[in-house]
Amino acid sequence: MKTPVTVLGLGAMGTALARAFLAAGHPTTVWNRTPGRSRELDALGAVRAASAAEAVAAGPLVVVCLLDDSTVRATLEPLAADLTGRTLVNLTSSLPSQARALAEWAAGHGVDFLDGGIMAVPVLIGGPQAFILYSGSTAAFEQYASDLKAAARPAYVGKDPGMASLHDFTLLSAMYPMLGGAAHALALISGEDISPTAFTDDYLVPWLSAMLGQLPAMAKDLEHGPDGPAGSNLAMQANGFHELVDLAVEQGVDPAMIAPMEKLLQRAVSEGHGDEDLAALVPLLRGGA
Ligand SMILES: NC(=O)c1ccc[n+]([C@@H]2O[C@H](COP(=O)([O-])OP(=O)(O)OC[C@H]3O[C@@H](n4cnc5c(N)ncnc54)[C@H](OP(=O)(O)O)[C@@H]3O)[C@@H](O)[C@H]2O)c1
Repeated sequence: MKTPVTVLGLGAMGTALARAFLAAGHPTTVWNRTPGRSRELDALGAVRAASAAEAVAAGPLVVVCLLDDSTVRATLEPLAADLTGRTLVNLTSSLPSQARALAEWAAGHGVDFLDGGIMAVPVLIGGPQAFILYSGSTAAFEQYASDLKAAARPAYVGKDPGMASLHDFTLLSAMYPMLGGAAHALALISGEDISPTAFTDDYLVPWLSAMLGQLPAMAKDLEHGPDGPAGSNLAMQANGFHELVDLAVEQGVDPAMIAPMEKLLQRAVSEGHGDEDLAALVPLLRGGA
């Protein structure tokens, strides 16, 4: 028999996780604060527990996916004795410090603990593009990785329970400005006779894809130092950037999304990095404002 799995939380993500475990043949017990959510899981064979404690008692592997850390703490703290001897996998987004504190709480109650960062939206769960970052107990990961695979490809990023969250939020920090930049671009053309779909397919995606292809070189520069003169030096970029802000103003678009980049480039130049490439921004950002 496949490992029984308990899923606490049937929001959009918890429901997708439960569905994936059921699809992979895991006996799956579910609980949600508001009863009756995600009725479609019943037809797939989910067992509905009347209480969170009853759900935890159903099996050795407890996956929790609630709104945030305070919700998790409020839900789990009364269940400490029920969780003892089981493995808790927290897939709720939380800060590294919160994941470490939860790990400490779990250890104090004899609960094996993994924290996870879900790199997917609900519709991708169970599919080939989804992956989930895990950190914390190596033993728990080794024991349950093949079960957790039902939800998404598992990637273990370290014993420190905060590492999954650090990786997760770092990746989101790269994603949001990119998507915000794309929204800014679409705003720039929105009053024009340009199809957003065609523009995106023909130019935006190919352009961003080409630029993403430059990231490994930037990381290499950062790690090993530049291996030649900058192809696109920061002085040149800082000099021209105000035109992007001017364009936004001309098009009646709020430049809030791109304006901080102009300031950052100007600062890099004023601090002597004008002849360097974008990798020079990394230590600058690390140094704080
Ligand atoms: N959806 C995504 O695209 C996505 C992607 C990656 C990571 N995540 C993370 O996954 C977690 C869940 O996201 P979601 O999309 O499933 O959110 P959601 O649809 O808003 O669901 C929130 C869940 O938290 C429960 N909850 C809220 N307050 C509670 C409380 N005080 N006590 C007990 N339960 C409470 C809700 O129960 P009720 O039904 O009773 O309100 C519901 O089960 C979040 O941490 C999110 O950051 C989500």
